[in-house]
Amino acid sequence: MNALQKDLIKLTAAAEQAARPRGPWGLQLHLMPPAGWLNDPNGLCFFRGEYHVFYQYSPFDANGGVKFWGHYRSRDLLAWEQCPVMLYSDETYDAHGAYSGSALCGEDGLYLYYTGNVKHSGDHDFVLTGREQSTAVAYSPDGVHLGWKRRLMGSGDYPPGLSRHVRDPKVWKQDGRYYMLLGARTAGDQGEALVFSSEDKFHWEHINTLRTPEPFGYMWECPDLFELDGRYFLLVSPQGAPKDGPGFENVYTAGYFPLSGDFRGKYSLGDFVPLDFGFDFYAPQTFSDGRRRLLIGWMGMPDADYSNPTAAQGWQHCLTVPREVTCRDGRLLLTPVQELEALRTSRYGFPFGGSSTTDLPPAADIRVTCEGPLSLDLSGVSLRAADGALTLTVREGGWGRERRTAPAGPLRNLRILADTSALEIFVNDGEAVLSTRWYPESDSRTLTLRGQGRAVVDSLRPLQIEKPVLP
Ligand code: FRU
Repeated sequence: MNALQKDLIKLTAAAEQAARPRGPWGLQLHLMPPAGWLNDPNGLCFFRGEYHVFYQYSPFDANGGVKFWGHYRSRDLLAWEQCPVMLYSDETYDAHGAYSGSALCGEDGLYLYYTGNVKHSGDHDFVLTGREQSTAVAYSPDGVHLGWKRRLMGSGDYPPGLSRHVRDPKVWKQDGRYYMLLGARTAGDQGEALVFSSEDKFHWEHINTLRTPEPFGYMWECPDLFELDGRYFLLVSPQGAPKDGPGFENVYTAGYFPLSGDFRGKYSLGDFVPLDFGFDFYAPQTFSDGRRRLLIGWMGMPDADYSNPTAAQGWQHCLTVPREVTCRDGRLLLTPVQELEALRTSRYGFPFGGSSTTDLPPAADIRVTCEGPLSLDLSGVSLRAADGALTLTVREGGWGRERRTAPAGPLRNLRILADTSALEIFVNDGEAVLSTRWYPESDSRTLTLRGQGRAVVDSLRPLQIEKPVLP
């Protein structure tokens, strides 16, 4: 352990100890930072019987700063343990941030691939000059404590024609080899994903590049590639994608290209499908726990013109709940993992016709089935389904969030996970999702439904989070 890491450990403990109580917007169903700022989920995996969720973490500043890898783990996705920070930015190649990446479960421990970010001082544009983004690997024998870390590749090892933006390694094993995707921005401002291959996890060779025939955005962040029901999907968070209506209304978007052919050779990418239609969803990542594919996203949006009042209280952002990814007719569906049903405490079910209002607990699982047009109001947020679209309007507590639209076909059902300041809205069994933060002022919540249908409201008890005993 070097002297910088020693000090960063002490400073992080001090920041977490000094963290103020979370107030009424503190989340009950969503993982949030112990102090300060959280962004992308990282290193998601199921290792030796436990789920590990790492995340981009800046404990010293609720508006972001140098990034570490914070860490939670759980056996059942309900009771979580806050583990020590796994990666600090304490080496020359990651001095300005241990940026996003992924986990590879080995027989002998956990390998965490990440991006070491360095910004040089001086007059640079930080696109073509002034930035180093190295690919690094960290090894942990037990998934909780760091063994060692080292730099594997830098700009000299990436293919020619790229800018200095190359990051977010996603690594997996397939057919006896290791593969890595890196998100990249070319010198000509085209987003793409680089494919590398390795025999030993440490020596990597560039073997292919995945891109669209016409540029689709200038940078692809956080790539991910997986097979589901015999089809391949390339997940990316593109910056600069065309502003193309629903799903593209935020600064940046996140979604997938169906991939046909072989990602190692001849391939083609289908049309990009946005994964979310709300205000706060970015940099999602997936992993398999051996029986299903799970996805977690960052419930936030970089460079957005709306904000989060919790920053003034010393913390900002959260992750989505874990969602199960399934595939129907070549499209991905997302639904909250079934485990969350164990949080249900009391249930209230009722048919509605005309208008019906009920009180809501701070954390609720709301399921509505309907026939014909529906409108729903939930403490400052309204949803209206008409003409094949679902419109989300934030009337109060949006802090700049106003309106978003999702395709809803004929609306059959809605499921809403309503937390103290976060909503995850699943449309028609997960065909579309809207993830959004909002900050209602009043402690009392109500749900009003107008239309014809049936609703079931379950109160949810909070996730259990075990904090470390601080010195
Ligand atoms: C996406 C992202 C990644 C990067 C990380 C830094 O939100 O910009 O590309 O690795 O955040 O925190």
